[in-house]
Amino acid sequence: MEKTKLLYEGKAKKVYETNDPALLIVDYKDDATAFNGLKKGTIAGKGEINNRVTNHLMKLLEKNGVPTHFVEELSPRQTVVKRVSIVPLEVIVRNIAAGSLAKRLGLQEGTKMKKTVLEFCYKDDELGDPMVNEYHILAMEYCTQEELRLISQYALKVNEVLSAYLKDLGIELIDFKLEFGRLADGTIVLADEISPDTCRFWDSATGEKLDKDRFRRDLGHVEDAYHEILRRLMGE
Ligand code: TMP
Ligand code: ASP
Repeated sequence: MEKTKLLYEGKAKKVYETNDPALLIVDYKDDATAFNGLKKGTIAGKGEINNRVTNHLMKLLEKNGVPTHFVEELSPRQTVVKRVSIVPLEVIVRNIAAGSLAKRLGLQEGTKMKKTVLEFCYKDDELGDPMVNEYHILAMEYCTQEELRLISQYALKVNEVLSAYLKDLGIELIDFKLEFGRLADGTIVLADEISPDTCRFWDSATGEKLDKDRFRRDLGHVEDAYHEILRRLMGE
């Protein structure tokens, strides 16, 4: 499998075409941004950690009935994935109030939600990824009703599988963001990444933040937090 042409460069990853039109190679970077690119930095080793953590969790999800774009880890930073067209939604699942939800509803961070909360944002950096509901999604044709039903069902399943898996490793899954894509035949699969960049992970015992909030909020020990997640998941 070889990279042929750079297809897209995002804030945290580069995506390449390959000699197989149905497959892409994702290359994870150490670059980190927050607040829609306003804050910029690097987190040493992040690319490798996010690649390995994402693949580990994608494999776990596949085994538990969630179809994903994952094909094969090529190298510490690079992975072969199925080519998809991304559904332009950020799908956010929340178990415990934190971040923008805590702010919006005036909740103290750490408040357990009585029911899992599902949110959708329209993926558009210029608009700042505005939150949308089912009516906006269907009216704007970001996806179909059937796709939205499946995406919601998969997102809740991901939450069940990952929450239970991480709990055993002493990690509380506070919230996370998913993206889905369509294969050439229209099949919906989980895409993008699942990593400390896109999830909030708190140590179950101490409440310590083990995710990108350490970078967003200048809490220090950012690299240590990413390494700790890798260590707990992969035993190293
Ligand atoms: P929020 O509380 O800032 O809305 O974030 C909710 C979750 O989504 C959190 O786990 C971090 C993740 N997230 C991303 O992956 N990308 C983003 O651009 C933002 C704003 C949040
Ligand atoms: N990565 C996103 C950005 O740069 C936001 C975030 O993760 O906080 O906007």
